[in-house]
Amino acid sequence: MMNVSATRAEQTVLVLGGTGRTGRLVLQRLLERDVHVRAVVRSADRLPAGVGDDPQLAVVVADLLSMSDDQVKELVNGCDAVISCLGHTVSVQGVLGPPHNLVTRSVKRVYGAARALRPAQPVKLILMSSVSVNRREGLDTRRRRFERAVVWMLRGLVPPARDNQRAADFLHEVVAADDPCAQWVVVRPDTLKDGEVTDYALHQGLVDSLFRPGQTNMANVAHFMCELATKPEMWAAWRGKLPVIVNAPPA
Ligand SMILES: NC(=O)c1ccc[n+]([C@@H]2O[C@H](COP(=O)([O-])OP(=O)(O)OC[C@H]3O[C@@H](n4cnc5c(N)ncnc54)[C@H](OP(=O)(O)O)[C@@H]3O)[C@@H](O)[C@H]2O)c1
Repeated sequence: MMNVSATRAEQTVLVLGGTGRTGRLVLQRLLERDVHVRAVVRSADRLPAGVGDDPQLAVVVADLLSMSDDQVKELVNGCDAVISCLGHTVSVQGVLGPPHNLVTRSVKRVYGAARALRPAQPVKLILMSSVSVNRREGLDTRRRRFERAVVWMLRGLVPPARDNQRAADFLHEVVAADDPCAQWVVVRPDTLKDGEVTDYALHQGLVDSLFRPGQTNMANVAHFMCELATKPEMWAAWRGKLPVIVNAPPA
C-alpha cells in the first residue's frame, strides 16, 4: 500500500470510484483545483490518461472492502472530504454478484474510520446516488402511488438500487447533524449523460418522474461534488440533504 501520510495539503480529498465514468471527472477536476487527491482503485490502468504522474495524486491500488480497519483509517486520516462515485458494474455479474451492498459497505467503512480518527473537523462525506433514492419521512412528495410502487419493486429486483437507498438511509439514520466526526451530502442525479459542464439546477426534492426522467451531465455532477468538497458556503447550504441535480433547460 502506498504511503499516503505525506500528501496532506491545504485540502485533501479521498475519491472512491475514481476510475468510473463520473469518478474520473471528479478526480481530474479536483486536481485542476489544486486539491491533493487520494484515490483507491482496483486497477491503476483504468485511471484517466495523464493523471498518473500528477504529484498531487496518491493512488492506492486496493479493494476498499478487503482493506483492514487500520488501512482504511490511514486512507481517511487527514482528509477534509471523501467523495464516493462507486457503483456496481453494469453486467449480470456486477449487478447480481458479489460484492453486495458495495456502496453501503464502503460508506460504513469510511464513516467507521472517521469515528476512530476523531478529526478536528468533521469529514465531509459526499455520496453519488440517484433519483431512485428517496428522502426519508416521505419528504419526496413528487412521486404518486403507482410510481412509488415501481421504485419499490425496482429496489427489490435490482440490488444496486437497493444498495444506493441503504447507503443514503445509513447516513441519514446514523450520522446526526451534530456528529463531530462526519457530515454528509447525498447527490441525486437523474439519467447520466456525457457532455461538458453546463448550467444545472439543484433541488431539495424530486422534480421529474421515473417515466419522464430528467438528464444530468456527469460533468455537472462532478462539478457540484467538487464545489461541495472545496467551497464552505456550498457545503453549508447542502449538508445533511439529498440534492437532486439536473441540467438546466436550454435558454
Ligand atoms: N447510470 C445512470 O444513469 C445513473 C444515474 C444516476 C445515478 N447513478 C449512480 O451513480 C453512481 C456512479 O455511476 P457511474 O456510471 O459514474 O459509475 P461507473 O462508471 O459504473 O463506475 C463505478 C465505479 O465503481 C467501481 N467499482 C465497481 N465495482 C466495484 C467493486 N466490486 N469494488 C470496488 N470498486 C468497484 C468501478 O471500478 P472499476 O473501474 O475498477 O470497475 C468504478 O470506479 C452509481 O452509484 C450509480 O448507481 C447512475
